[in-house]
Amino acid sequence: MEIKKVGVLGCGLMGSGIAQTAATAGFDVVVREVSDELCERGFTGIEKSLAKFAEKGTITAEQQAQIRGRLKGTTKFEELSDCDIIVEAIIENLETKRDTYARLDGLCKPETIFASNTSSLSITEMMTATSRERQRRFVGLHFFNPVPFMKLVEVVRTILTDEEVYETAVEFGRKLGKVPVRAEDKSGFIVNRLLVPYLLDAIRALEEGVGSIVDIDNGMKLGCGHPMGPLTLLDFVGLDTTYYIAEIMFDEFRERRFAPPPLLKRMVMAGLYGRKSGRGFYDYADAKNPVPTNLV
Ligand code: CAA
Repeated sequence: MEIKKVGVLGCGLMGSGIAQTAATAGFDVVVREVSDELCERGFTGIEKSLAKFAEKGTITAEQQAQIRGRLKGTTKFEELSDCDIIVEAIIENLETKRDTYARLDGLCKPETIFASNTSSLSITEMMTATSRERQRRFVGLHFFNPVPFMKLVEVVRTILTDEEVYETAVEFGRKLGKVPVRAEDKSGFIVNRLLVPYLLDAIRALEEGVGSIVDIDNGMKLGCGHPMGPLTLLDFVGLDTTYYIAEIMFDEFRERRFAPPPLLKRMVMAGLYGRKSGRGFYDYADAKNPVPTNLV
């Protein structure tokens, strides 16, 4: 099965990155958002990102225009009906996702592959909102932020995923310029299974006074060659998002390593979400020079 037209649900940080990446790889892309305003906001981000790539010479001005020309925004589900694959990157809420899939199932052609970008929810639980035939055409495609830069995509299969559909999804990941890794539908897949306990442990180390925010970050950045220290990465991913993922994983595995530490919970309750709210482990009042937050 050949994928030509790609549908993306959601034009937030992940959806817009996925749409941009698919259009850059030569696919025609339709992105659906709930309102024109959110659609425009997402497209403004895509245009800025493409302009930056053009400025740096990664793409030519002509390619920039061609990529933009392959992207279309809409608020109508109907416009996704003839897509060969739909990648969903909407809010991480199971009921909202299930409602959306049930609705699309009735609109899309029988061959359309449904793929979710969820980081921790069960693909199987989403899939059961659709018809028996569609359930065989359901996978996870988990991308990483920032999508245009990060080389990985986790391709997730359920116990019902059709082999040919799965291989098509793996190949689609490759065509997007990513390295696909194969994973089973177990909460967190491969990356968050390993990343989330590491991030939570960095918070525990801070709680226990092992080191300061900057020293913990420098430890992993300079000692292990990570591009960002764990507390910087937490601010980048979002403390609210990490808390939410950790709760789901703890619920699934009942293991302490996935339990959100009290400091994380308190920071989320206090609205310290990280970069998106201007403050987390660091204060981003001057975005180019973040300073560590005084948390005691
Ligand atoms: N489009 C175009 N340009 C962009 C951009 C985008 N979307 N994002 C950043 N840039 C630009 C920056 O503006 C910057 O431009 P200038 O040089 O002109 O200032 C340039 O790219 C390089 O940015 P940085 O200086 O920040 O460069 P960097 O080398 O630090 O790379 C990074 C940035 C790729 C984010 C790197 O820091 C990194 O790999 N960090 C780790 C990210 C990570 O771990 N992501 C996974 C998170 S987990 C997840 O997503 C899954 C989940 O389920 C939680």
